[in-house]
Amino acid sequence: MRPHGTPVALLAAACLLLLGSCALSRVEEAKSPERLFLGSLGLSGRPRPAGSQQPGRHVPSALWRMFRRSEGDHAEESDPCTVSEYGVRGNIIRYVQDQGRLVSGWSSSCRACLEKQLYFNMSVLQPVELLSLAQLEITFHWKLLQGPRALSVSLYQVIRATLRGADPQAGRRLLLSQSVRLQHEPTSVAVDLTALAEGWRKPGRNYGLLLELLPLDAEPEELLPFHPGNSLPLEPASALPLVQASLVAVSLNPHQCRSGRRRRRSAVHLPVTPSNVCKARRLYIDFKDVGWQDWIIAPQGYMANYCHGECPFPLSESLNGTNHAILQTLVHSLDPHGTPQPCCVPIHLSPISMLYYDNNDNVVLRHYQDMVVDECGCR
Ligand SMILES: *[C@@H]1O[C@H](CO)[C@@H](O)[C@H](O)[C@H]1NC(C)=O
Ligand SMILES: *[C@@H]1O[C@H](CO)[C@@H](O)[C@H](O)[C@H]1NC(C)=O
Repeated sequence: MRPHGTPVALLAAACLLLLGSCALSRVEEAKSPERLFLGSLGLSGRPRPAGSQQPGRHVPSALWRMFRRSEGDHAEESDPCTVSEYGVRGNIIRYVQDQGRLVSGWSSSCRACLEKQLYFNMSVLQPVELLSLAQLEITFHWKLLQGPRALSVSLYQVIRATLRGADPQAGRRLLLSQSVRLQHEPTSVAVDLTALAEGWRKPGRNYGLLLELLPLDAEPEELLPFHPGNSLPLEPASALPLVQASLVAVSLNPHQCRSGRRRRRSAVHLPVTPSNVCKARRLYIDFKDVGWQDWIIAPQGYMANYCHGECPFPLSESLNGTNHAILQTLVHSLDPHGTPQPCCVPIHLSPISMLYYDNNDNVVLRHYQDMVVDECGCR
């Protein structure tokens, strides 16, 4: 037994305390297991999402696909500590939101450019997490077609803050420069920034990125090398929501990743047979009942189950008792008041995947261990 119990036990305790006809003081007590559970998700408190009506706060379709796949039938054979979509180790996938602002309609180095800061707060990753991948995804939406047909995109790493009037090129390093042809479908550019994002995790080392967009009034092929003469003015206010950036960060929390593959979730199909002998019982935890529906996106609830029942003498093999439990039932049968029966406890738990908003409004997909009781035993 770990000092604070398993997450499912904490969650069940929190549920029972919150749901039961319990006194106010017990509801107060329930806040402590809630904190423990949120802490193990890497959250400092219950997230309060700013409101799901906000544009840009939708769940990226790639995350939905990964979530559905992890719930699907072949999830049993997949390694919960590898993200096969990106081919890297990890059990946490975050879409870190861009917090950078639009600098101006034109930058000091390029009058016709739209300049946007990109800032990704990497301190949402806990120090224990190992960053496997940080991929910047910049998406240009088709509405820009009303303006230019193509953009010249330059991405810079900001190395240090520069003063106004200083040479704008001095404090930055070019990471990417390419032309993007705008089509009716949103067009995306992906850039691997893993090494850079690892550096951003250290305090005071993240000056962010700078994105410079130069509208081009011709096919990109015809324009290389381009010169400012063939650019169009781009209305910054209308262009801003049409360029979206997010950082997909895949990380591994090694403490929440045991080796070995997932096992079949037998307890999902528990037989309903009346018996007071130790076995797994059905318990559906509805996140609405604990008031978590506003930050947990999916699932809405799940079959968590629990262990309950007696561990009588003689302990049959099906009760999965340890040698110690067998001897304890023997002693209990001789001296029922002096020695209790062994306890009916989970002996195999399986993970689930959760899709939620963290305290910074980022969307996170996390494979979370020890959430479902599959098998019970006498211990
Ligand atoms: C980044 O996130 C951390 C943890 O959530 C927070 O304490 C900090 O204020 C954030 N920093 C910025 C610049 O938003
Ligand atoms: C003991 O383990 C077996 C599989 O190893 C399982 O079928 C059985 O249900 C378990 N017993 C209890 C009480 O859960």
